[in-house]
Formats: sequence, C-alpha cells, structure tokens
Amino acid sequence: MVKRIFSGIQPTGSVTLGNYIGALKQFVELQHEYDCYFCIVDQHAITVPQNPLELRKSIRNLAALYLAIGLDPEKNTIFIQSEVPAHAQAGWMLQCISTIGELERMTQFKDKATGKDSVHAGLLTYPPLMAGDILLYNSDLVPVGDDQKQHIELTRDLAERFNKKYNDIFTIPEISLPKVGARIMSLQEPTRKMSKSDSNKKATITLLDDPKQIEKKIKSAITDSEGIVKYDKENKPGVSNLLSIYSIFSKKSIQDIEKLYEGKGYGDFKSDLADVILSEIKPIQDRYHELLESTELDEILDRGAEKANLEANKMIKKMSNAMGLGRKRKK
Ligand code: AQP
Repeated sequence: MVKRIFSGIQPTGSVTLGNYIGALKQFVELQHEYDCYFCIVDQHAITVPQNPLELRKSIRNLAALYLAIGLDPEKNTIFIQSEVPAHAQAGWMLQCISTIGELERMTQFKDKATGKDSVHAGLLTYPPLMAGDILLYNSDLVPVGDDQKQHIELTRDLAERFNKKYNDIFTIPEISLPKVGARIMSLQEPTRKMSKSDSNKKATITLLDDPKQIEKKIKSAITDSEGIVKYDKENKPGVSNLLSIYSIFSKKSIQDIEKLYEGKGYGDFKSDLADVILSEIKPIQDRYHELLESTELDEILDRGAEKANLEANKMIKKMSNAMGLGRKRKK
C-alpha cells in the first residue's frame, strides 16, 4: 500500500526560505512516492491574534504558493484545515488525553508565551490539534523542519496513549527532516532560527522577495571578519548558514562550494548566492502571480476539502466509537 503523508503550513506572514527548505521542498520531493495531504493550517494561525481580512488573503496566497512550488493538485490533496471540521473535533478529543504539564513543556509554547501578560489557551493546546491533523489521515510520515520535532514526538505519544487506552486505531507517524537545512538560521542573528514572525525584515528572505531585496538581504547577512568561506557551525554560524542555503539551491556539496571560493572574500560568495536563490524562486514567483488570478485555485481547494472530509470523517467515527461518544450507528 502507498504510504501517507500529512503536513501543513500556517497562513501567517510571508513564507520564508526556512519554511521552503524545511518543509515545502520536502513536499515537492516526496509527492512522487506518497499519498499526500497538504494542508493550510488556518486554525493554528488563530492561536495568536490575526486580522481576519489579512488571514483570508493569506490562506488563498498560501494555496497559490503550494501550487507554484510544484505540488501537483491531481496527485495530492490540497485543502484548508477549517474546511474540514474533523480537525477541530480530533483536536478536542486529543486535548482530553493530553496533560497541561506536557503542553507547558513545549518549547514553542514557552518561546511564544514567556514574558506575555496574557496568553490565549489555543497557544497551549495547539499541539494536540496538530496531532489530530496528522493522525486523522493515518499518516506514516510528516515532513517538517527541526523546530517541529517536539510536536511530532508529542503526536506519537498521544497516538500510543490513545491506542493503549481505547482502541488500536492510529498509525504512529515518523518525522521526515531535510538532510541539509532542517534549521535555517536568521541572517541577522545566525544562532536563532529564521522565523516568519521576526520583526527585523533583514533577518529573513521570503519566497516573494524581489531580486533587489534578496541581493540586499544577503549582502547585509552577518558573517565574520575572517573572510574565509568555510563551514564551521560553532565558530562561523553566519557563513555556515549561508553555505547550507547555497548548497541546497545549487545542489553542490558544501566542500565543493568551499573550494569554489578558496582565496576569494565574502563579496563574490554572497553575490553568487543571491543568483542561485533567484534562479530557483523567480519561476515560482511568476507562477504564483498567474495562479492568484485564476479560478483553478478555488476548484482545487474545493476538491481537496471534499476528499479530506471523506477521509477524516472515517477516522472521527473510529475515534468517537473508541471513546464512547454519541450513539452507535450501523453506518
Ligand atoms: N528556520 C527554519 N528552518 C527550517 N524549517 C523551518 N520551518 C520553520 N522555520 C524553519 C518549518 O516550516 C514549517 C512552518 O510551519 P508553520 O508555518 O506552521 O510555522 P510558523 O510557526 O508559522 O513558521 P515559522 O517560520 O516557524 O514562524 P515563527 O518562528 O515566527 O513562529 C514547519 O515545518 C517548520 O518546521
């Protein structure tokens, strides 16, 4: 049987090179071997305040981006989380077998909640919703970046807990991390991950940045005063991050790139890096703008929601029966 994949991205802010390398590039590669459910996880987005009009726009924009990077809508199920109510239902059932202690230990929760006077409950309870997203589809594999490791571990724990306590209905999913670039770092603080929500726009490159912005951001990326293009994560985090990005976009090994720039400074390296990034993302940007104008996008999302609803409702029935919710029905 063909194995299943589930993964998603939040329609918040602009999709960064981190999101592209950590998650989206994996989606494109894995779509040929797996039966994939790629979701726009808008219910995760509202765990922090959002402008409703902006959110609506971002959902459609992200759908266009999914297609523009090369996800085949004939092969994959592409849909919006809130259009499949089973996600919220599964999230609630899994919340009821999660403990507050384990949710409070999630580093993403700690990062986003620390120092805030008031934190919405959804920020704490979003990992069981994410677990529901994955488990509803009997997913075997979840392609994500390194920062999601802890949430996938929790998903596995919750699935095992449910299987043991109620009925053995869930597949225990594995994580899929990219070999290079599982954690792309900020261009301005290369010891921190590149984040959509970074207020310093120079720290991130987005998939929709124009050539001038990309050149400028790479030029101002923090390196060091050594002037040697060499991978050394501990002592040269900035250069090492740029080398990883170069290697991913050029498909050259890090050693080959180091050789290429032997005896040259950071200037040539950075200018070529901007070119290799652009040569991959410029065609994506062109397709993206075409898709946004088309009606094709809404038809794809309608078909995706229909298929995802059918599949997810089957699992909700199993979960409800296992937990004793509602009445037993023959069909
Ligand atoms: N820097 C990164 N390097 C590699 N992978 C990354 N991902 C995120 N940042 C990096 C992966 O991209 C996907 C994003 O999922 P999301 O949109 O649901 O997460 P998010 O929290 O909105 O995105 P960010 O960029 O992580 O934003 P911040 O830090 O501002 O909250 C996931 O697979 C993630 O691992």
